[in-house]
Amino acid sequence: MKIILETERLLLRELTQEDYPMLSAILQDPQTMYAYEGPFSDEETQAWLERNLKRYKEDGFGLWAVVLNETGAMVGQAGLTWQSIGDTKVLEIGYLFNRAYWGKGYATEAAIACKHYAFSVLQAQEVYSIIRDTNSASMHVAMRAGMQVRTRFTKHYRGVDMPHLAFSVKRDDKHT
Ligand SMILES: CC(C)(COP(=O)(O)OP(=O)(O)OC[C@H]1O[C@@H](n2cnc3c(N)ncnc32)[C@H](O)[C@@H]1OP(=O)(O)O)[C@@H](O)C(=O)NCCC(=O)NCCS
Repeated sequence: MKIILETERLLLRELTQEDYPMLSAILQDPQTMYAYEGPFSDEETQAWLERNLKRYKEDGFGLWAVVLNETGAMVGQAGLTWQSIGDTKVLEIGYLFNRAYWGKGYATEAAIACKHYAFSVLQAQEVYSIIRDTNSASMHVAMRAGMQVRTRFTKHYRGVDMPHLAFSVKRDDKHT
C-alpha cells in the first residue's frame, strides 16, 4: 500500500483492485454522480480504476483513495490528474466522496493537501479544479482551497454539452 499524503484526519494512498467495492459505492450512487449525468456501470467503474492505476505508473500520480486515519474506512477519492481545457493541458485536483461522509470538511482537507503536493512535490506553477456550473458543493471546496474562477468552457461528456468553470490557484498566491 503506497501512502501519498497524510492530513489531520485523512490518509491518501494509491488505490488497488481490492478497493473496487468501496469505489463502486461512490461511482455507482446516482445522487453522488449527478454532475456526471448519472451513475457508472460496473464496466465504467472498472475502467475508471484501471485508468488511475495506469496514471500512477505513467504520471507518478492520479486519483488516490481517501481513508480515515482513525478507522481506515475509505470515504472517497481525491488526487491529481492531467486534464485539458481546450488545447491547454492542466494539472487538476479532483475529489469525489461517499455520500455518507459529506459535509464534514473531508473534501476541503483532501483538496488542500493535494494542492500542497502539487506545489511542493510536483513543482507545479498552477493547479486547477474543473467544475460543472451546477455543482455548488464542489465550487465551495475549490474556493476553500484558495481557488478562483479563471475561465468558462463547455465540456462534451457522455453525450451532453456541459458548461464548466475552471477554478485555479497559483503557486505565488497566498495559501491556506
Ligand atoms: C463536492 C464534494 C466532494 C464535497 O465534499 P464534502 O466533504 O461534503 O465537502 P466539505 O465538507 O469539505 O464542504 C466544503 C464546502 O462545500 C459546502 N457544501 C457542501 N455540500 C454542499 C451543497 N450540497 N451545496 C452547497 N454547498 C455545499 C460546505 O458548506 C463547505 O463550504 P463552507 O466551508 O464554505 O461552509 C461532495 O459533495 C461530492 O463527492 N460530490 C459528488 C462528486 C463531485 O461532484 N465531485 C466534484 C466534481 S468537480
